[in-house]
Amino acid sequence: MMPEFAGSQYAIEIIYLIASALFILSLKWMSSPSTARHGILAGEIGMVLAIGGTLLRHGIVDWKWIIIALVLGSGIGIPLGMVQMTAVPQRTALSHAFGALCVTLVGTAEFYLRSPNIPKFMMSVLSLEVILGGLTFTGSLIAAGKLQEVLPQRPITYKGQNVVNLLFFGIAIALAVYLVIHPEAKQFFPVIVGIALVFGVFLVIPIGGADMPTVISLLNSYAGLSAAAMGFVLDSKLLIIAGALDGSSGFILSVIMCKAMNRSFTNVLFGAFGQVQPSAAAGQEARTVRSATPEEAAAILAAANKVVIVPGYGMAVAQAQHKVRELYDALTKKGVEVRFAIHPVAGRMPGHMNVLLAEADIPYDRLIEMDEINGDFPQTDVALVVGANDVTNPAARTDQSSPIFGMPILDVDKAHTVMVIKRSMNPGFAGIDNPLYYLDNTLMLFGDAKQFVGAIVRELGGGH
Ligand code: TAP
Repeated sequence: MMPEFAGSQYAIEIIYLIASALFILSLKWMSSPSTARHGILAGEIGMVLAIGGTLLRHGIVDWKWIIIALVLGSGIGIPLGMVQMTAVPQRTALSHAFGALCVTLVGTAEFYLRSPNIPKFMMSVLSLEVILGGLTFTGSLIAAGKLQEVLPQRPITYKGQNVVNLLFFGIAIALAVYLVIHPEAKQFFPVIVGIALVFGVFLVIPIGGADMPTVISLLNSYAGLSAAAMGFVLDSKLLIIAGALDGSSGFILSVIMCKAMNRSFTNVLFGAFGQVQPSAAAGQEARTVRSATPEEAAAILAAANKVVIVPGYGMAVAQAQHKVRELYDALTKKGVEVRFAIHPVAGRMPGHMNVLLAEADIPYDRLIEMDEINGDFPQTDVALVVGANDVTNPAARTDQSSPIFGMPILDVDKAHTVMVIKRSMNPGFAGIDNPLYYLDNTLMLFGDAKQFVGAIVRELGGGH
């Protein structure tokens, strides 16, 4: 080995080590809103180091293709990074699809480069890499399509679907095992890749749009595992570490989401959840609700001592967070104690509400997690729900037949007065009616969240 080669190899290993440490720190820092920005920066620096270190490798024979790929990748990545916050779940799914496609292509190239003399361990990880990569690629595309509503959101199911899916997966695994024993049976490799690609579609179509965020998090986990397998194939410790971090964090996130919805993995993957319940629509017509104007809402808020604001997906859609900040300022100025109740799955992605409220500079110590604030609702004068629905639905506590029965909710119905800002009586993500709206202590404030909160702020004499 040439001395300078050994030297640069050493430098690459050090760069990779620093990048790995930054990835770990990034995840750690992202777990709290106060350090989250550092976390993002650490992840970005880690990724730049990882790419830079890879470019120092001696195996590179032609820079032309690398530069073309860098320009193309950045050309796609920059506009992808600028989508609206509400589109982040499908944007994330697309990123997983690209990552998984890359893993599958690298795995396929490595197979044909090394074939037919592939040791058993290498063939096992190669198979794992292309199976997970292939199913994550197509599965993520379907998930993104469902969330973007270019594909039907409803679960597409048929009799015996699970058996067919299992059979497909079983055939791919059986062929992979055969290839491990007989790596010279090259003809089976494209069949394995093909089955994995079809299986990804089969896996996601029976799941309703309502469960896509959880599915995306699971696919994130698969993408990470496939990248870790690629790390073994390419002998890259950095890829193994980054892939394992991605795989485990995606899995933990899926578990957290399932817990917050009181759902099991099987229920999410096979439950066909999220179709509008016919009984919900029927129930709505027979019952009446009380509504109020911005003036009335402002008067009630101004007379309160303790107010809890409950943000939900509608606040994100309306981009009402800055108006909510103005409301917070106006009420605080009048001596009203204002806090925010954060449900773990409010919105469409983990931490959605925290990010929006932080963007509007609402102090972190005003954001109270569900378990901590639920006991305070009986002493709360007004619970103001801004575009949240399912996470406030008392049927989750009382109605055993409800699809969300058992999901922990924010107990807003226990406040003295509940005011709910939303545009109509339409259901939320789970597609079910909300009995909260018909209670005697509930007032509906019909309108767009940004406009309605803005009107209340004007009545209170605040805002810009
Ligand atoms: P949802 O139950 O989806 O309700 C949002 C409400 O916002 C809707 O009822 C809608 O009513 C209203 N809305 C929409 N646009 C609005 C606007 N411009 N102005 C005012 N209101 C508007 O939201 P949530 O309470 O935040 O619950 C989240 C749901 O997502 C749960 O079912 C949860 O299980 C699910 N989910 C979340 C995650 C994560 S990680 N967050 C993951 C998986 C599933 P109108 O149409 O009448 O306005």
